[in-house]
Amino acid sequence: MEIDVFTLFPKWFEWFEAQRHVRNAIEAGTRLRYVDFRAHTPLSGGQVDDTPFGGGAGMVLRVDVMDAALRAHYGMDATEARNHRRVIALTPGGRELDERYVSELAQEPAITLLCGRYEGFDERIVEHYAGETLSIGRYVLAGGELAAMVVCDAVLRKLPGALGHESSAAEESFSETLGGAPEYPHYTRPAEYRGWSVPEVLLSGHHERIREWRAEQSARRRDGD
Ligand code: 6GU
Repeated sequence: MEIDVFTLFPKWFEWFEAQRHVRNAIEAGTRLRYVDFRAHTPLSGGQVDDTPFGGGAGMVLRVDVMDAALRAHYGMDATEARNHRRVIALTPGGRELDERYVSELAQEPAITLLCGRYEGFDERIVEHYAGETLSIGRYVLAGGELAAMVVCDAVLRKLPGALGHESSAAEESFSETLGGAPEYPHYTRPAEYRGWSVPEVLLSGHHERIREWRAEQSARRRDGD
């Protein structure tokens, strides 16, 4: 899989790429690339944003800057890129990220994440260059970079080889194996701590009973009790 992130802050992703599971995904063939708007701006002084028409606080990422970055990176008209891969604008009001959306993206051969900054994007970017908008929740972040890392993290761990054990991703929270329910609780040593003990069934070695207990716990969490 190939993920391109268009951002004003490519350096932020150095930390992200240092994480073990991200490195594993890259070694297994995932390609993560970063495109710095500032390296492609046609404007003087590295300008990439501007004040909003009609007034108001903050700065807006310019449509001509996004155009130049997309054209330079993909070697085609900027409006064409979305016909070749999913081009996703990261905005607080977009389609909310959930396990289904993550699975959808993990099946794509290539996606592009556009990070806005300050007050976000000139709306013409969303309209003409992006094919969809994505939000990681109903709150406002200063920019799309953290959201892009959330998307990459969630998508990468769905890819084969990213986790130590193939079964880990299949049986985790919200997965199909668990019928879309949250995961069951986990425990590890010590079996007793400050008088708090681990459920007996988990120490029993009885695989069938353990499976049943986990399914029951998972269903209870889904139903909110
Ligand atoms: Cl994708 N961007 C920003 N700026 N804020 C957000 C978001 C994205 N998702 C939730 N809040």
